[in-house]
Amino acid sequence: MMRKLNQNESLRVAVVGCGSVARAQHIPNIVRSSKMELHTCVDLNDDVLAKCREVFGAKHIRKNFEDAIADPEVDMICLAATEKLRLPVIRLAAEAGKPVYVEKPLARTLEEMSEIQRVVRASGIPFCVGHNRRASPAMVDAQRIFRQHMEHPKPNPWRWIREAELLPSLPDNGVPSVSVRINDDWYSWKGWVFDKAQAPHGPMLFEMTHFTDVCNWFLEDAPVEVTAVETGMLNMAVIVRYQSGALATIVIGNNGTMGYCKELYELMGNGGYLAVDHMLEVRTAGIDGAPAKIMYPMQHDLHPQIGLEGGVSGWLAKKQAACAEAAAAHDPLLQFTAEPDKGHAHALERFADQIFGHGPEVCGIDSAVLATKVAFAAIRSAHEKRPVLLTEIVP
Ligand SMILES: NC(=O)c1ccc[n+]([C@@H]2O[C@H](COP(=O)([O-])OP(=O)(O)OC[C@H]3O[C@@H](n4cnc5c(N)ncnc54)[C@H](O)[C@@H]3O)[C@@H](O)[C@H]2O)c1
Repeated sequence: MMRKLNQNESLRVAVVGCGSVARAQHIPNIVRSSKMELHTCVDLNDDVLAKCREVFGAKHIRKNFEDAIADPEVDMICLAATEKLRLPVIRLAAEAGKPVYVEKPLARTLEEMSEIQRVVRASGIPFCVGHNRRASPAMVDAQRIFRQHMEHPKPNPWRWIREAELLPSLPDNGVPSVSVRINDDWYSWKGWVFDKAQAPHGPMLFEMTHFTDVCNWFLEDAPVEVTAVETGMLNMAVIVRYQSGALATIVIGNNGTMGYCKELYELMGNGGYLAVDHMLEVRTAGIDGAPAKIMYPMQHDLHPQIGLEGGVSGWLAKKQAACAEAAAAHDPLLQFTAEPDKGHAHALERFADQIFGHGPEVCGIDSAVLATKVAFAAIRSAHEKRPVLLTEIVP
């Protein structure tokens, strides 16, 4: 069993799967945290394990997750292996009563997803899926502003109601519509993405679940039906219809560029508009009391003297300078500067608060299952070339 936690102690974390996202985000975020400490790193690769010990100061390194979970000193598991490793780790952690933070996607198949849901519910362990955008400062503000506007709309004094007496009563009056635009460059992806044994559904699952989760979270509505078109692995468009009549349209273009902002979320509802641009800016119009623009700090800014205005335009100036340096030095890695805060560190911190009992659920099993089901409905819709009801998505 998990030991009894004292509020002054930190959670001793075992990270299982210490690849790119773990070493870029979770491991350094745990090391920096006052609520967690890096206890064990588990990976199959010796070089990776050596880095975990030498660079990040992991106390223990192991090749086998069973021993890490069984270790009485380990309080919590952070599972950041690729999607081929999910249920065996979660099942053992649940049996040991230890909380799990797991990277998305939650599972590779509907059968595995249902079994994970059953195991997590039955054990009652705190559980969090790495839909980290729910913890990004820009997204948190945007979701709060948008929900407030949808639930308590204030009349807009300058709204042009051309012929008030002739306005028909329309069923979708006020009902929101969300547009999600994703610009990515598939040349930057790594090998496992194309390996059907490791990621059988490609980005339609492992990327899409981030965006279906964001739409579910902003709309707080039940997804009913999904229509999707994909032309292969790179271009895809998904429309989700919700119970209220709300629509979410997710467009992913993987033949894009890292030289421009990756994510743009636009929401329209109740005569208002809200955009989250690359998690650097939240812009609004027609929403009473909401600032027209809020800007958010960047992380790892290697160009602090450029783009001082901040926001999207400041970021673009920094990015262009970094891309020029990358080209001159023939080193594409130099293009990375001033990243937006996508919420990785906050998600883990908030999960630690949840475990200690003084914070709400961050992205629990049921929310994650819903986001994953919508992605599976999109996969089936694209494959069968027809709209798919959520009720059809059963193992
Ligand atoms: N939330 C995000 O922003 C975000 C970003 C990138 C990746 N991800 C997700 O994180 C996961 C990992 O992605 P990545 O890009 O870091 O992959 P990666 O290939 O770089 O890392 C995976 C690591 O897991 C290790 N591993 C494989 N099998 C193992 C086992 N049985 N026991 C222990 N370790 C094992 C590998 O050796 C490797 O080091 C994926 O599910 C991906 O979708 C999330």
